[in-house]
Amino acid sequence: MTAHDYPTGTLVDKAGIDMTLVGDSLAMVALGYTSTSEAVNNAVRMLKEGKVEAVKLEGGKEMAPTIAQLTKVGIPVLGHIGLTPQRQASLGGYKVQGKSVAKARAMIDDAIALQEAGCYAIVLEAVPAPVATHITNVLSIPTIGIGAGAGCSGQVLVQQDMLGLYGRVPRFCKTYRALADDIVGALKEFSADVKSRAFPADEHTYPMPQEELSRFLQ
Ligand code: KIV
Repeated sequence: MTAHDYPTGTLVDKAGIDMTLVGDSLAMVALGYTSTSEAVNNAVRMLKEGKVEAVKLEGGKEMAPTIAQLTKVGIPVLGHIGLTPQRQASLGGYKVQGKSVAKARAMIDDAIALQEAGCYAIVLEAVPAPVATHITNVLSIPTIGIGAGAGCSGQVLVQQDMLGLYGRVPRFCKTYRALADDIVGALKEFSADVKSRAFPADEHTYPMPQEELSRFLQ
């Protein structure tokens, strides 16, 4: 599951989910940018300065030399192929990848190259389920699917998407809760309570000791 800050990371932990991904989906679903590419440099900084245990790199064969360098010095790398949001412009937008036999075969080659470069697992995003299942069967490392069907070894979703907190939910995402409606409802109640002076009530205020209060009011 993705998490982009301490509170949402804590929730993922509490739910007992195996792995937390501080994905660069953050740029879109938390910061409101229209794409994720601005976040690449920040991801590298987080690895250097933060407490992350692995880094996820998008791209196929062309990334293999970089991945091999990182894994050789002990930096665990999670690969990411299929729809790679940092390159969505060159992929024709946020579209399913690997639909033709030629593209599916190229994706299988990419997956093998990433495994050979030392990736400990590979994210498969927006890939037809049969292709993702085949890649999973061919590899000895796990695959983590997002819009890639049930044949992957594991699954990831963007937390804001599955909680209904972000407007455009992709077809592959199941919305487990529509929290935006609850949150907007709560915000409206707050606003109305402030205007009607129903909030703050006595229980939300700090009293003064009676003796001090009497002296203060003199
Ligand atoms: O950036 C991200 O959150 C991701 C996941 C969608 C896999 O890459």
